[in-house]
Order: sequence, then structure tokens, then C-alpha cells
Amino acid sequence: MKYRKHIFICVNERDPASPRGSCGRCGGWDIRMEFVRLINKHGLKGKVRANKAGCLDTCEIGPTVVVYPNGYWYTGVKREDVLNIFQHSVLNDDPVDNLLADKSTWKKLYNIRSE
Ligand code: FES
Repeated sequence: MKYRKHIFICVNERDPASPRGSCGRCGGWDIRMEFVRLINKHGLKGKVRANKAGCLDTCEIGPTVVVYPNGYWYTGVKREDVLNIFQHSVLNDDPVDNLLADKSTWKKLYNIRSE
């Protein structure tokens, strides 16, 4: 495996008038830069990668971050959540339970899209 941890941060940008919204317009870029800052601060460049991602198909409940190889999905992420995610899911292998997407997250997304 090339990276110990691979973080995908959606920075997709749609037209501001789009009803779906887009992570790049609600904090995705700042979230990515905060992960990059923490990676550098911890000397993990080349071992952990914070990748700009296109749409991860959870736009309405974004910004969305996914951490592999654990496959932890976080939606509605705020910049102030990044340190918590980094400490638990990047430096360690633990989910941040109160931020982790679960069945209720996917149901919420389904309901939004069914309206
Ligand atoms: S725009 Fe980020 S998940 Fe679609």
C-alpha cells in the first residue's frame, strides 16, 4: 500500500444556484488545507495523503471526507472537526463516532432526494 492513510476531501463546486449544493462551496477547500497542514506538522508527507476529490455523491449533506483504508465516511464536516478526525482516524484507526456517517445519515440523504 502506497499510503498509510488516504483521505479524500470533496472540493467539487457547482453553480451556487444548484439545489444540491457542493462541498467546495461550503468549506471543502478549507477542510483539505487543514488536513494538509496537519500532515505536514506531523511529518507524514508521503505517508498520508489528503486528496482533492470530485463529487462523492453526498452533496446535500456535505462537506464529505472519506478516510481509507478504514473506509470511514464523514459528512457535514466543519473545519473545526478536522483535528478530531485526524487524531482518531489518521493517526490511529478509530472512527469519530459522533461524526461518522451511519444508517441515519444515508436515510437523511435519501429523504432529501425524495422530496
Ligand atoms: S459535491 Fe461533495 S459530495 Fe457531491
